[in-house]
Amino acid sequence: MRTQVAIIGAGPAGLFLSLLLERLGVESVILELHTRKHIEERVRAGLLEFNTVQLMHELGVGDRLRRQGLEHGGIELRFNRHGHRIDFRDLAAGKCVTIYAQHEVIKDLVRARLATNHPILFETTEVLVHALDSTAPYVTFQNGGVSERLDCDFIAGCDGFHGVTRAVIPAGALTVYEREYPFGWLGILAQAPPASKELVYVHHDRGFALLSMRSPEISRLYLQCAPGEDLAQWPDDRIWSELHQRFATDDGGQLTEGPITQRTVTGMRSFVVEPMQFGRLFLAGDAAHIVPPTGAKGLNLAVADVRVLAEALGAFYARGSSDLLGQYSATCVRRVWKVQRFSWWMTQLLHRFPDDNPFDHRRQLAELDYVTSSRAASQSLAENYVGLPV
Ligand code: FAD
Ligand code: DHB
Repeated sequence: MRTQVAIIGAGPAGLFLSLLLERLGVESVILELHTRKHIEERVRAGLLEFNTVQLMHELGVGDRLRRQGLEHGGIELRFNRHGHRIDFRDLAAGKCVTIYAQHEVIKDLVRARLATNHPILFETTEVLVHALDSTAPYVTFQNGGVSERLDCDFIAGCDGFHGVTRAVIPAGALTVYEREYPFGWLGILAQAPPASKELVYVHHDRGFALLSMRSPEISRLYLQCAPGEDLAQWPDDRIWSELHQRFATDDGGQLTEGPITQRTVTGMRSFVVEPMQFGRLFLAGDAAHIVPPTGAKGLNLAVADVRVLAEALGAFYARGSSDLLGQYSATCVRRVWKVQRFSWWMTQLLHRFPDDNPFDHRRQLAELDYVTSSRAASQSLAENYVGLPV
């Protein structure tokens, strides 16, 4: 097989890249480890930045998003049992964010990709990338019990944090910046109407909590827990009891309970590799960086990377120019670090750290008071949350 760009991974990065390239007349083949059903049902992110929503419309994959997405013009920060609204439309030039589940985005992108008659090879195993420092790289893999080889001009490593492409780069060629957090998130989906129309981020003595949603009938709730928390220790009534305590307000608003249909524990880390390129291999999305989920940025950052990559590949095929490809990593990394900073900032502002001393705790509360009472400070939160300009 031969193509122009071999894309490893059919997550948001790989699928958006394939559609952006299609629009520029550049051919690609996507190799994905899992089945279509698996990737279309994998529960993950839920919040799309303004720019991500715009891009889905531009690519013609926004019909269901237009009908089912929930536009949010603000969030609530809750601390000391009181809520404080951050009004994005006022503070961020009329912009808003949209709640629409990542696996719904995946369904829309997979359908559009398959309609182009260019393949996604599902259940592809033993992917290996070769000859990265030549102009003729290639990928070997197993598909349907057959060993295959895909020749290409470029390889896009869109295979997530645990993928194989980053691991192939010689250690000396990359610098890794990493930070782990001493907590994780226990996340649930519940068949319960969300108790608030907008997201609620809670700072509480017992730890952080977040109310989000997937529809007017389904709540998505998270609570800070230990990094490797054992779900067996969390029967439903313990989860609800903990959530009720953390969301409690003096005006008596109540969380709505309902059957819990899904539960997971996620660890939290900040991670960046630089550069995001080695020869003809370009890393994008979680393959190159991870943010803690507090700012809801992972998916959106993956989309920002592949916009830059698609434009650079487009320039290569249209004009034979490698300039933008040469600048790919530097261009992406500027945004990556700003988003890392914001995600770290939201995380340290809202979570309890095991080694907190009373000073840290009072400082956090002072910062929350500042962010919710100063227009300059809340504007900084708002412009980052809705997404920095592309
Ligand atoms: P992935 O989505 O991980 O896709 C990689 C793909 O590559 C997968 O389909 C995988 O199966 C495939 N693959 C892996 N290895 C191989 C291989 N060897 N060969 C072939 N294919 C391979 N982000 C937000 O923006 N907003 C949010 O609200 C948000 N909330 C989150 C909440 C939680 C609990 C979690 C866990 C994450 C959240 N994120 C959020 C982060 C977001 O889900 C990720 O950043 C996003 O999925 C990254 O996309 P990606 O395409 O880079 O990687
Ligand atoms: C969701 C996840 C996040 O990490 C966040 O900050 C906001 C919303 C969600 O899954 O809906």
